[in-house]
Amino acid sequence: MDINKLIDLNKLKFDKFYNNLLQKKLDKSLLAKAIKYSSIKGGKRIRAFLVSQASKIVGLSSINSFLISSSIESIHSYSLIHDDLPSMDDDNYRRGKPSTHKKFDEATAILAGDSLHDFAFQLLSGNLKHIEPSKNLQLINYLTICTGYNGLAGGQSLDLFYENKKLNKNKIIEMYNKKTGKLFEFSFAAPFIIKGETNKRIKFSKNYGLLFGTIFQIMDDLFDEINSFKEIGKTPGKDKKQGKRTLLSIIGKKNTINFCEEKIYNFIKNNKYEFNKYPILEELLYFNIKRLK
Ligand code: IPE
Ligand code: IPE
Ligand code: MG
Ligand code: MG
Ligand code: MG
Repeated sequence: MDINKLIDLNKLKFDKFYNNLLQKKLDKSLLAKAIKYSSIKGGKRIRAFLVSQASKIVGLSSINSFLISSSIESIHSYSLIHDDLPSMDDDNYRRGKPSTHKKFDEATAILAGDSLHDFAFQLLSGNLKHIEPSKNLQLINYLTICTGYNGLAGGQSLDLFYENKKLNKNKIIEMYNKKTGKLFEFSFAAPFIIKGETNKRIKFSKNYGLLFGTIFQIMDDLFDEINSFKEIGKTPGKDKKQGKRTLLSIIGKKNTINFCEEKIYNFIKNNKYEFNKYPILEELLYFNIKRLK
């Protein structure tokens, strides 16, 4: 089946699971409304798709797979709410509608983000089925690393600090790895970790997720420049206006795409065994670039 169809199908199933989960936990308070507004039926659910593919490879149950996806998509929604705040990227739109602080207010948006962040850890620490406690703990510990100072939060700080500064390519890639790559790394590696796969396979899964995420961010920067509001659901042309340092801003469109293609080519070449065994992994890596055409 076409990869876009597979992603849509997984989104459909995941959204149903996630909506039930959230509806059960939330009442009708203002905060509950803001949490639901920002997270239910939101986005492409690409991270959830990575979890589903890794789960298939290692034979993780669908309930555990959906719980891990729910945790990750909660963290992701929190990061978007905070990313849009006036003190960060100051974007009035997200996922085709007013961003959370515009629809509600800033304090509610900050707290909705906080709540989603904590909800992720609540899910991972209390809901997974038939998992060895030590593996469960390892997973939670790893998520804190991917979201904290050496991950998403640290990367977001660099993204803001780097605005309008002169930077080299390596610094930009390091920022991408942290702000976006690390959560993708967690998404693809989590099933390998809790199923107790070998260190070699866990390493492969982390590298795969990280590469996917970094390319995903590189492409997001491209879409910011060339796509319309209708296509991206957020204010286009914003990165340039804000002086965001992106790979695109220093090497241009053609070199940016070449850079991604080369990274993918080399990674596949160095991990032939896994790619021969699971051809969808190759298609999934190229999916990011194909979205461009
Ligand atoms: C947007 O992520 C932020 C980035 C890390 C580039 P997505 O493009 O996955 O956002 P949604 O979830 O589909 O809205
Ligand atoms: C956001 O990057 C990455 C996050 C960790 C939220 P961007 O600032 O480029 O994301 P968009 O374009 O606002 O979705
Ligand atoms: Mg940002
Ligand atoms: Mg932004
Ligand atoms: Mg962007």
